[in-house]
Amino acid sequence: MKRSVLNILDLSVEELDQLIATANDIIANPAKYSEKCKGKKLATLFFEPSTRTRLSFEAAMYELGGNVLGFSEANSSSAAKGESVADTAKTVSCYADIIAMRHPKEGAPMVAAMNASVPVINAGDGGHNHPTQTLADLLTIYREKGSFDNLTIGLCGDLKFGRTVHSLINAMSRYTGVKFILISPEELKVPSYVKQGMKDQGIPYVQTTDLESVMPELDILYMTRVQRERFFNEEDYLRLKDSYILTPDKLKNAKSDLSILHPLPRVNEIAVAIDSDPRACYFKQVLNGKYMRMALILMLLEVQ
Ligand code: CP
Repeated sequence: MKRSVLNILDLSVEELDQLIATANDIIANPAKYSEKCKGKKLATLFFEPSTRTRLSFEAAMYELGGNVLGFSEANSSSAAKGESVADTAKTVSCYADIIAMRHPKEGAPMVAAMNASVPVINAGDGGHNHPTQTLADLLTIYREKGSFDNLTIGLCGDLKFGRTVHSLINAMSRYTGVKFILISPEELKVPSYVKQGMKDQGIPYVQTTDLESVMPELDILYMTRVQRERFFNEEDYLRLKDSYILTPDKLKNAKSDLSILHPLPRVNEIAVAIDSDPRACYFKQVLNGKYMRMALILMLLEVQ
């Protein structure tokens, strides 16, 4: 039976622990993994732009000794001629052992998974989910904090369209003593279905527009970009795009062991001056994403 990962909740807490253990072992012993996927092929089907996700999937497969094929924009595939996601998935299943798909439409990777005969990984679907970014986030949090329990996590920026935020809330809601502080403009609050999920599980959260007032409480600060491509009009984007800009001055009341994360790409939300602060973890996140994607490919291909 093929197994796909469309949502971070498709992976149990035990499986997340296993992926983190594998990723840590890959970091410690990369040579052990260099031929694990010899003869296997990953297809990267990206109907929407990407730097990190596509290239880290490709680097992951190469570092496992496998090969990669695919496309990086819808216009260079037969989607431009009107081919459906279902037919694309059936076709690519004839060429590849596993598929990573990014698509601007929510649910498109699920349609692909229902039609493919090989595992499909959701590499980001519209404003919905981005489970492998969450894997990168989780490994980063684990390596920085040593545990997922008893953390106060501030999520700041575009919490409405930011799919990485929705996936991270789902993932972290399964650990003990986690509290969320949701920092956004009124127009970019977390969608009600995500809030309902937290309420149903009894997860404490507060909503605020003021980053500086909550800064001293935070163990993790997860900054996000305002998602221009999801806005219906440019005026609203221009009004909201610089709602939060993290500068060294704004960190003066932050904990000394705060971890600053960002899924990237960054536009203006974090001043470049923060990059040299030891609390900045966003480029570690990029690297951690590659290791977790290696671990996920091994799991889904059932490579020992
Ligand atoms: N974090 C992330 O998804 O980055 P890309 O859009 O560059 O893949």
